[in-house]
Amino acid sequence: MRKITADEFSKLLTVGEVAARSGVAVSALHFYETKGLIESHRNRGNQRRYAREVLRRVAVIKVAQRVGVPLAEIHAALKTLPQSRTPTAADWGVLSERWKDDLDARIKRLQNLRDQLDGCIGCGCLSLENCPLRNPWDVLAEEGPGPRLLDPEN
Ligand code: FES
Repeated sequence: MRKITADEFSKLLTVGEVAARSGVAVSALHFYETKGLIESHRNRGNQRRYAREVLRRVAVIKVAQRVGVPLAEIHAALKTLPQSRTPTAADWGVLSERWKDDLDARIKRLQNLRDQLDGCIGCGCLSLENCPLRNPWDVLAEEGPGPRLLDPEN
């Protein structure tokens, strides 16, 4: 992050101002900063100040969280943007498209789980062998009985 003058520092936003304008708690902003999602400038007294653009960055983070994107993934996505750049409308278009695909995949997984749960309602066996929710990755079972990996012709 580039060094700024005391005059520039005085024009930046305090964490309280960012919290008030973004609707995000101060503790959450500090958390985002420890995770590298946002950056602040510090003066000699170790006071933090944020560039105005942080508001858009926080908005992107909040929207992504709302659709269930993990923070680590948000961090990775923001890292793909040039250093310190606020996500532009075009950036947001790319990120949201990618996250829509992830969201579609998550919805599909949840729908599958819901359908499997239907078979469990009123059952209670929780059997490793028979319950699809206890053994959700037994996808080979859907191909039929027998050693599917050892005998692909089966
Ligand atoms: S609890 Fe019996 S099939 Fe899931």
